[in-house]
Amino acid sequence: MKIKNDDLITLDNFIEESLYNEKFGYYIKKDPFGAKGDFITAPNISVLFSEMIAIWVISFWEKLNCPEKFNLIELGAGNGEMMKILVATFSKFPKFEDACNINILEKSKLLRKTQKATINSKKITWLNNLNELNNSQCIFLANEFFDALPIKQFIKKGKKWHERHVKFKSKANKEYVDIPFNMERFEKEIKFKISHKQKFIEYSPQAAEYLKNITNKIKNDKGGILIIDYAYTDKEMKNTLQAVSKHKYCNVLESFGNSDITYNLSFDLIDKMIKKFGTFASLITTQKQFLTKLGIMERAEIISKNMQFSTKADVFFRIKRLIDEKQMGHLFKVMFITNHKNKFKLGFNSD
Ligand SMILES: C[S@@+](CC[C@H](N)C(=O)[O-])C[C@H]1O[C@@H](n2cnc3c(N)ncnc32)[C@H](O)[C@@H]1O
Repeated sequence: MKIKNDDLITLDNFIEESLYNEKFGYYIKKDPFGAKGDFITAPNISVLFSEMIAIWVISFWEKLNCPEKFNLIELGAGNGEMMKILVATFSKFPKFEDACNINILEKSKLLRKTQKATINSKKITWLNNLNELNNSQCIFLANEFFDALPIKQFIKKGKKWHERHVKFKSKANKEYVDIPFNMERFEKEIKFKISHKQKFIEYSPQAAEYLKNITNKIKNDKGGILIIDYAYTDKEMKNTLQAVSKHKYCNVLESFGNSDITYNLSFDLIDKMIKKFGTFASLITTQKQFLTKLGIMERAEIISKNMQFSTKADVFFRIKRLIDEKQMGHLFKVMFITNHKNKFKLGFNSD
């Protein structure tokens, strides 16, 4: 899309251009991960995060009666750090490794290259879209994937709904403009009443489309999707849009093409959506609970037994970042969506 002065575009188009424009899009031109980048994700904080995910996947596969062939799909694999550790962990479980057909769905060509170099495995297929998957059972992993998809924002003023747009007065001067919006017609189109008991809505058409495709793939065969993301469980939606650059919040409009734009997922909205798509079950917990139940502390004790004090301290310092309630432990939530007959609850059981 070419943007000219005085253009007025919807917020989701603005985010799409800012993050994925072929020339200047944030994810297209740079690898933003890590201490030297703009933000850091859990797999880049500690390898133990990815090890816990590997153990969870293997356990789920066992619960599915160890199918001889199945698809593991990582959605948006960033710099490939998580998949690198998954592949290394899987190699210690040969029966699982033989059965597992690993796929990555990645939009950024630059990040695909980085992933190929980081993971360095011939066993991975990069997908352009989910229709390329074969018919085997599917386990999807989405760590900070959905929060990177563009959203629309709708605001209720009095009794009338408005959709947020961005006006490009000039390259350097942009402003939000809210334009009256026919919510009733939109809800008929998407076959879902998003406005029920809401005054403010954040809705991602792309996320809805992905969830529809994914639930379609897992509805008959008891596969599932594990979503780990910035999320909240309140029923009332709120304005959570934010931009991050060099590990600090910045202005969404001013940093067009130069910052990561994200939002907090409403797990309540996702839950309602998937239950419209079919008879699915969902489990929700915090990242702290999930990783603790999977045994991240015990694993840290084992690997750090013979380490020097400073290295051992670093291992536990990194885990603290992942599970501390004031850091990622509560801000990040985990949601597991499956066929309603699913009995697998590892990481979510309340005992
Ligand atoms: C915030 S990053 C998270 C990366 C990684 N999962 C991690 O935790 O480090 C979002 C990732 O999703 C990718 N992505 C965003 N939209 C996508 C889409 N529609 N299809 C495939 N990948 C997408 C981005 O390029 C990036 O790799």
